[in-house]
Amino acid sequence: MVGYAFMGAAHSQAWRTAGRVFDLPLRPDMRALCGRNREAAEQAAERLGWSSVETDWKQLLTRDDIDLVDICTPGDSHAEIAVAALEAGKHVLCEKPLANTVSEAEAMVAAAESAAARGVHSMVGFNYRRVPALALARALVAEGRLGTIRHVRAAYLQDWIVDPEFPLVWRLQKDRAGSGALGDIGAHVVDLARYLVGEVESVAAQVATFWPGREVDDAVESAVRFADGAVGTISATRFATGHKNAFVWEINGSKGSLAFDLERLNELQWSEGTGGFRRVLVTQPDHPFMELWWPPGHVIGWEHTFVHEILHLLTAIADDADVAPHGATLEDGYRAAEVCDAMLRSSESGERVSVEYR
Ligand SMILES: NC(=O)c1ccc[n+]([C@@H]2O[C@H](COP(=O)([O-])OP(=O)(O)OC[C@H]3O[C@@H](n4cnc5c(N)ncnc54)[C@H](O)[C@@H]3O)[C@@H](O)[C@H]2O)c1
Repeated sequence: MVGYAFMGAAHSQAWRTAGRVFDLPLRPDMRALCGRNREAAEQAAERLGWSSVETDWKQLLTRDDIDLVDICTPGDSHAEIAVAALEAGKHVLCEKPLANTVSEAEAMVAAAESAAARGVHSMVGFNYRRVPALALARALVAEGRLGTIRHVRAAYLQDWIVDPEFPLVWRLQKDRAGSGALGDIGAHVVDLARYLVGEVESVAAQVATFWPGREVDDAVESAVRFADGAVGTISATRFATGHKNAFVWEINGSKGSLAFDLERLNELQWSEGTGGFRRVLVTQPDHPFMELWWPPGHVIGWEHTFVHEILHLLTAIADDADVAPHGATLEDGYRAAEVCDAMLRSSESGERVSVEYR
């Protein structure tokens, strides 16, 4: 694993836990943590459960005892590490957004495709696909239980940079993060929209940076048209005062609607027809991923999504199967990047922009 701060800790917990909950086809052995400062990396490795340390990620690729590289660094290093790892024959789990630019994402897809021909697998960490309630939502939509989808309204709402004095951390630096709310949390919304409903055809977006001197966008609001005719909105903002990490969804179809709120992630609201919403508690053993967790009603949390992600990736590797459609491929990461890029171009031009894939 490269990088050991926020996502590094979340992934480490998942690597430690996955094999203890699920009957994995491959048992993870947490061989090496990579961080640039040896002393700090050694302390992190001890705390997080990794058995050795490297200070240069390139060293990981030379080691025969390493089969998979988990990339938990900021977006500016994803492409270089992932392409080199795939070329070295290592499976890759790469955090989102896949890359900071569309062209980097394209290069990563090319590397993933040629690696796949050699049995080397890769996945992007769009972990919200692995929330049981959202996996259930996807199944209900795919089974036609909602009928023809008319609307999708989705918003990812945070408020951590409303203070104009907030320091210029890497997420606010253009060369490190690529973009702001759009590429960070907006990419999650775009990926889930594609996962739940289907391809985005065009966008009319407005991006905003509220404090002068900030390098990246603070917020994006976008009117979206889907390829199958549904229309909706996608919002992502770090200026929604009072919201810490709200991720709210509503999908309306001709036969009913679904609604979801990450702050109540064990629940899905379901209206069959126009009957009104009822709560589905997604903790039954026949709900996605729930069979091996706790008895019904014993709720799970945000960190479990990473455990599910690892279960999914290791199963794909063991079966030599694609992580698609339920796990996000590097192609999915590239497509999310194209949609985000179209939003930026739409905001700049003031025009609706079609999303064109390579
Ligand atoms: N899936 C999610 O829900 C989710 C949530 C938060 C962040 N992320 C993504 O995870 C990635 C990391 O974000 P974070 O919040 O963990 O950031 P962070 O700042 O908490 O951690 C980044 C880590 O990368 C290390 N690092 C940076 N460059 C490195 C290099 N060249 N070699 C080795 N280590 C290096 C840093 O020292 C640090 O340990 C980003 O792509 C971010 O978008 C995903």
